[in-house]
This record gives sequence, C-alpha cells and structure tokens, in this order.
Amino acid sequence: MNALKEIEDFALLNKIPILLPESRVVLQKLTKELKSSSNILEIGTAIGYSGCLMLLNSPKSNLTTIEKNSNMVKIAKNNFKKLNLCSRVNILQGDATEILKDLNKKCDFIFLDGSKSQYVHQLPFLINLMTDNAIIMADNVLFRGMVLAENPINKKYKTIINNLRKFIEEVKNNNNLKSEILNIGDGLMIIKKI
Ligand SMILES: C[S@@+](CC[C@H](N)C(=O)[O-])C[C@H]1O[C@@H](n2cnc3c(N)ncnc32)[C@H](O)[C@@H]1O
Repeated sequence: MNALKEIEDFALLNKIPILLPESRVVLQKLTKELKSSSNILEIGTAIGYSGCLMLLNSPKSNLTTIEKNSNMVKIAKNNFKKLNLCSRVNILQGDATEILKDLNKKCDFIFLDGSKSQYVHQLPFLINLMTDNAIIMADNVLFRGMVLAENPINKKYKTIINNLRKFIEEVKNNNNLKSEILNIGDGLMIIKKI
C-alpha cells in the first residue's frame, strides 16, 4: 500500500486531524509550483502527513516543521523515515508561537496549520520570515463556517473564532500583503507579499 495512504488511514483510525482531501489538492498545486530548493515552514506537524506531501511535491525543498505534542513528533519522525525524507526535514518540538520568535531562516512557503487561535499572534513573525515571493497557506480560516456566520458564537469556540476574525482583518489591513480566502475544505487563506 502507498505509504501516504497508510498515514491517512492511521490518522482516520486514530482520529488525528490532517489536511482534508480538497485542501490537499491546493497544497499540492502550490508546492509543485515552488522553485527548486525552496525553504518550507509548517506550523502543526501532527503525524507528518502534509509535511510528507509538500516534500514529495517539491523534491529538492527542505522543511522546518513545528509541533508541540511529543507523541505526534515521534510518529511524524517515523513517517518521514518511511518515505526517505528525513534528510530534508527539521522537526522542532515545542510551542510554535515561542519557537517562531527565534527563527530567522527565510521561507518561500509557509503552511499554517497549528493552533487556530494563535494564527493572529504568529502572523508578525511569519511576515518577517517571508521571502519576497513567499506564500502563506493558512488552513481552517473559516472554521466550520462559524467565522463568517452572523449568529452568536458558540461559547466553546469563542476564542478561536474571534482570533481567526482578527487574523483575517490583520492580513487584509496590511498594505504589504494581498490575500484571498478559498471556500475549500475548512477555508484556506492564501497570502502573498505585494
Ligand atoms: C490540524 S493538526 C496538523 C495537521 C498536519 N498539518 C497535516 O495536515 O498532516 C494541528 C497540529 O498542531 C499542533 N499544535 C497545536 N497548537 C500548537 C502550538 N501552539 N505549537 C505547535 N504545535 C501546535 C497540534 O498538536 C496538532 O498536531
């Protein structure tokens, strides 16, 4: 069985959220278009599914990926190994918002898929890390349709929804960025520098 399919099946069986199939199509397209030897940054490794996908689509690129959960890191390492991708991956374990403060390697592509309520706090650091042609793909920005909905927010998701709204506003109000939101999967925001 194809190794990526095995990772998908493992995620499904263990209820680990990974990239939705329709969002995967967009991620594949964007990473296929990257120039050779690009630097990719990912926030939210989980079990390495999207990380493997990006590296397979951009065969000379390198990936730095951040994950706070040590069990996930262990499984992700194993998956990168199975696909012979270890030499192109640097997994950083810890809280992404803290780790981002110390990163300085410029990135050509950023896949933002960690804590949804942290996107707005991570944005300034991500902007600093972008090369001139860099793209950020932020997943789940419409969060089950709740971000654009007018009815009162479910208390349980209040922080996530409010912070995603702030994130979208910050991106839109930044004169150095252009962006679009794709109503694909759980909502993808594609952000570029002007
Ligand atoms: C949706 S999953 C990532 C899925 C993965 N990108 C994929 O598509 O295969 C989100 C991951 O972000 C991690 N995460 C959440 N908050 C984080 C934080 N503050 N710092 C680092 N990782 C975080 C979670 O532990 C979880 O594994």
